[in-house]
This record gives sequence, structure tokens and C-alpha cells, in this order.
Amino acid sequence: MTTSKNIIDVKNITTKVLQAMKDKGIKITMLTAYDYLTAKLLDLAGIDVILIGDSLSNVIQGNETTLPVTLEEMIYHTKIVRRAVKKAFVVADMTFMSYQVGVTEAIINCGRVMKETGCDAVKMEGGAYLAETVRRLVEIGIPVMGHLGLMPQSINKYGSYKTRGEDKEEAEQILKDALILEKAGAFAIVLEKIPASLGKKVTKRLKIPTIGIGAGPYCDGQVLVTHDMLGWVDPDKHAMPRFVRKYMNLSDDMKNAFQRFIKDVRTNKFPSKKESY
Ligand code: KIV
Repeated sequence: MTTSKNIIDVKNITTKVLQAMKDKGIKITMLTAYDYLTAKLLDLAGIDVILIGDSLSNVIQGNETTLPVTLEEMIYHTKIVRRAVKKAFVVADMTFMSYQVGVTEAIINCGRVMKETGCDAVKMEGGAYLAETVRRLVEIGIPVMGHLGLMPQSINKYGSYKTRGEDKEEAEQILKDALILEKAGAFAIVLEKIPASLGKKVTKRLKIPTIGIGAGPYCDGQVLVTHDMLGWVDPDKHAMPRFVRKYMNLSDDMKNAFQRFIKDVRTNKFPSKKESY
């Protein structure tokens, strides 16, 4: 592994590489993918981590929450992404109720995901109550990425997607949970929608990397949902959270292309002679 200022030169990203990036102050980049071509382009672009997020439920399946997506569907999409990726570290999200029931069921389900998809690690939402699960998974060779702060699988408990850790008590709990997950063996933790000051505090206190989404600039890395950053979003849905930076307006461009195609066909401009045999 060789490093220069902001670059890490390795053949494959591993948990060790991600740790080295934190230790050397090189920011970790992570984006989501659910299909072959997106995953391939992310990998070619040089992304460090590709997450098959359970946002699959909202983004691809059109559900209101992340709860309905199944383990079978996660396995299906992770296999597709895995096929495309050569260098990036591939993480599969564990779906709602696939790891919460108990340690044994979590091991069976995480084991299935690792074995059937070839992914590099799993991600799960939750704090202290997952300590034993994480410890056992890591012990048997399954790397675990934690997820704290806003945990979309708990939407029915909290009733909203508002910022977490704004009050002292919740902020302390998030820090405590992060330290417990680190001690249990998690190799990294996603921090979602918490104040930047708390993101900074957790990042400083942990030896393992933090990857923020709406958790401010001090985290060791940043993650976004790829569809959000591309502006490939449902035009009927409300505004994006302010932590999303849109790099494109892909939905507008796609709709425009579809309308041009319709017009060209209707006016006999497509296909041309050159496009015919
Ligand atoms: O499901 C997902 O896409 C995620 C990211 C928002 C971190 O968990």
C-alpha cells in the first residue's frame, strides 16, 4: 500500500485500507449502487466503498420506507453489483428484521449474504443492543459496518426523519453506542443526520473510521445515495434533505430525452436513413 497526499494506491480496498485512510487523514468516499452499470462506473471512477443500501426499498422499489425490502432482494442486487466491481469495497445492508431477532439468526442471515453475494462486509443499524451480534460476526470473519444517528429502519419508533443527537442525552447515547460498536469489532460506522459538532466528537473519540451522511465535514468519510447526488429522483417527491449535494439533474435530462424521442418518432424524424438498414 503506497500513499501520497490524498491518494491511496492499492489493488483492492479492504478494511485495513480504510483504517489506514483514517490514520493518514485521507477521506473515504462511499456511494450506493443497486445495479451493474452504476457499480461499474463508480468503481472505474475510483470510489472506495460501494453500498447496496436498503435505500433500495425507496429508490428502486418506490416504497415510502426502507422496511419492506427483503433479504432475498438485497442478495439479488448485491450479486449484480459484485459482478461489476474490481477494486472498491462492497458492503451489503442488512434488511429490517434480518438481524434484530437474535445473534443466531443474524449470523445465519449475514452468513447467507456473504456466501451468496461475495460482498466484503455487511452494514446494520443500531447501538448497544447489537454488541454481541457484532462481536460474534467479526469473530467468525464477517466484517460489520455500524450505522448510528438517524436510523431509517426505526422510522416507526421515532415518527420522523429529523436530526438525531441534538439534545445532550441523545448525543451522549450516540457516542456511547459508537464506542460499544467499536469495542465489539465494527470496522467503521455510518453517522446519519447528526450535528456536525457531534460528528466531530465521535470521529475524534473512535479509532475506526466514521462515514457521515448529513453529519458534517469532520467525519473520516462521506456517503450519499447515488440517485440523490445525480438528481435521479422522483419528481413527485418533496425536496431533498439539505445534506444532499446534487451534481446533476439527471431526472430532468432523462425526461427531456424521452420527450425528444417521442417527438422524433411522431414526426418521422427517427429513424433516419443512416439509422436504417
Ligand atoms: O441505505 C442506504 O443507502 C444507507 C445510506 C444512506 C448510508 O444506509
